[in-house]
Amino acid sequence: MTQVRPLEMNAGATALPMLPPPPLVAIRDLSVTLGGHIILRRVTADIARGKITALIGLNGSGKTTLLRAVVGEYQFRGEIKYHCGHDHSKPRPENVGYVPQRLAVDARLPLTIRDLFALALSRRPLFLGIPRWVSARADHLLERVGLPGMLDKPVDGLSGGQLQRVLLALALEPSPELLLLDEPAAGIDFKDQKKFYDLITKINEEMGLTMLLVSHDLNMVNAHSHHVLCLKDGAIACQGPPSEILTPMSLSLTFGADTQLFPHRAVSI
Ligand SMILES: Nc1ncnc2c1ncn2[C@@H]1O[C@H](COP(=O)(O)OP(=O)(O)OP(=O)(O)O)[C@@H](O)[C@H]1O
Ligand SMILES: [Mg+2]
Repeated sequence: MTQVRPLEMNAGATALPMLPPPPLVAIRDLSVTLGGHIILRRVTADIARGKITALIGLNGSGKTTLLRAVVGEYQFRGEIKYHCGHDHSKPRPENVGYVPQRLAVDARLPLTIRDLFALALSRRPLFLGIPRWVSARADHLLERVGLPGMLDKPVDGLSGGQLQRVLLALALEPSPELLLLDEPAAGIDFKDQKKFYDLITKINEEMGLTMLLVSHDLNMVNAHSHHVLCLKDGAIACQGPPSEILTPMSLSLTFGADTQLFPHRAVSI
């Protein structure tokens, strides 16, 4: 019988400990001042590669400012260090996707979803016609977010949930290394919200896509994030896995002493 023996090391060789991969983004002592006011104060946090990091906090606590600082829109003190690419050596991500809370253009404009993708992907005027590759790519992306065959639907006819999926599809092209989601499901009903967060989780798992997600919905944060950052008045009040953070003590640090949790039975929808 053949015996399987553990690998022996060469004499003199030292065993190297398996180091965990560095975070995709390492934020150290980050401070941002806007209009003469300190908005972020010495924020130190990691955005782990391939995980969903949630960012929670009261209105005005600095969540959107942190997202914008991460993509280099604001000057800051401190350090934001990226470890990108397959070998973690690239100092910047090739592409960053962004899903806003709402569409920045008027959704009542007479545009179809195809037009929206054409404007975003081909960067040429619509009157020159829409290249076939744009339609093919848009079709594929819409299928990815569960909206197959919707290319010719008018944007103003979409439900809130469908519109957010279209914005997600737009953020996935070109394929991002980091996806920022700023309250992506705010204002849509709880059924569509759940569908949206299920989709986010599916994309995270299938693509291994790193996500930083701002949300006020603590149930969704609990169910769909791996790590939670809590901002209070521009500073990190606490951070950790949802099971440790979504507790009365941590939430009162973030939202104030009178915060209460109401446990409820899950309902299937
Ligand atoms: N360009 C700016 N100049 C001056 N102050 C700003 C600027 N942008 C944001 N602020 C202020 O910074 C603070 C944090 O704003 P931010 O938008 O980051 O909060 P938030 O946590 O995303 O809030 P919300 O939950 O309402 O979206 C607010 O007091 C806001 O008024
Ligand atoms: Mg915000």
